[in-house]
Amino acid sequence: MPSLEEELFPSTPGKFKDRNRHFHRCFASTSTMFLWALFLIALTASYLCFQSFMDSGNRYFTSTWGGHHWERNVINSAQIRRSHGGMSVLVTGAAGFVGSHVSLALKKRGDGVVGIDNFNNYYDPSLKKARKNLLTQNSIFIVDGDINDSKLLVKLFDIARFTHVMHLAAQAGVRYAMENPGSYIHSNIAGLVSLLEVCKNSNPQPAIVWASSSSVYGLNEKVPFSESDRTDQPASLYAATKKAGEEITHTYNHIYGLSITGLRFFTVYGPWGRPDMAYFSFTRNILQGKPITVYRGKNRVDLARDFTYIDDVVKGCIGSLDTSGKSTGSGGKKRGPAPYRIFNLGNTSPVTVPMMVAMLEKHLKVKAKKNFVVMPGNGDVPFTHANISSARKEFGYKPTTDLQTGLKKFVKWYLSYYGYDQGKL
Ligand SMILES: *[C@@H]1O[C@H](CO)[C@@H](O)[C@H](O)[C@H]1NC(C)=O
Ligand SMILES: *[C@@H]1O[C@H](CO)[C@@H](O)[C@H](O)[C@H]1NC(C)=O
Repeated sequence: MPSLEEELFPSTPGKFKDRNRHFHRCFASTSTMFLWALFLIALTASYLCFQSFMDSGNRYFTSTWGGHHWERNVINSAQIRRSHGGMSVLVTGAAGFVGSHVSLALKKRGDGVVGIDNFNNYYDPSLKKARKNLLTQNSIFIVDGDINDSKLLVKLFDIARFTHVMHLAAQAGVRYAMENPGSYIHSNIAGLVSLLEVCKNSNPQPAIVWASSSSVYGLNEKVPFSESDRTDQPASLYAATKKAGEEITHTYNHIYGLSITGLRFFTVYGPWGRPDMAYFSFTRNILQGKPITVYRGKNRVDLARDFTYIDDVVKGCIGSLDTSGKSTGSGGKKRGPAPYRIFNLGNTSPVTVPMMVAMLEKHLKVKAKKNFVVMPGNGDVPFTHANISSARKEFGYKPTTDLQTGLKKFVKWYLSYYGYDQGKL
């Protein structure tokens, strides 16, 4: 039987010495080979480890949701902290103007609130971050995510039992639609449907209150605007997507028994407002000594808006949530008729844009440089005026802040937020 050595290194007769030397050399080179192999294996293994570390690292850093800590935050924030009639509300667009105010108001009375916001850069995201900080200080957790991310929504409904959804996330603005039409489809159509899909599948289904818009009245000329007036003549893509939202929510109410309340907001303004709105950008320009563009209708008719103060709108949102009634479906199936409601949330006293500017001048103690320009036919409507009798009847909606008072509060906030020395004004 050949020895192991012979088996590996077949003998060459008469060359024992050589063979022996050969053997040693070979042995040395095998062990080198072995070491090399070991080295390569180690290298591959560490490369694979590194790869998977990078993968999970990427997942961890690019997607901002998930994980034990994140789930605890969601659960805590969704917790109801009052004994009677408390609700647990998912607020979409919670870092937005109306969203942040509604979240704070709900939390204050002990309701559970979880926010979601994608912090897009349609306007200065630092303002959204600042609103988020305000909410965080009040123990409200905001998820950084998109409502068109179904996986995220499913996860949220998995870990928190939301009784209500306050859907305020949207792409706003009428003129921006000509620049970025896709954004309106993404948020106001695709995002809405993805949210409704998750709501209809969840058990129990939440009741949904969401932001439509007074812009759905479009070219309607009958004043004041009542909910039953025609809304089939939108003047902007924004208005069209909001109108589509009313129709889409209607089908989810009809087919799946979701309780739906649509709120047609009329030019909401106030502290922490949206920088893309006229009263806000006018304030900025007036303070910086820059001219402002004031649009006028045909025949020099001033535009007028039914400006509605944020606190009044918040009361309307909460009144809607409190009276929403239950969704009736379960397991994705309708079990009976559910409420479908639409309300105007306005102020019922339109003010012309030049009058609004005069109020700002008074509060800022600076004269505005006004450029009057004929309104281009690109989305704005000449006037808005709400009939709010439905909301008054249904949940006692009664706006109490006139534009003069509301703008005073806005200016006070603006000066403090942007660090103006209020003593000098
Ligand atoms: C919304 O999300 C779906 C997947 O859930 C995706 O297919 C679609 O492209 C998204 N829509 C928009 C407009 O971003
Ligand atoms: C306001 O709307 C109600 C229905 O909600 C209607 O009965 C009333 O006539 C409207 N008022 C005006 C002034 O149009």
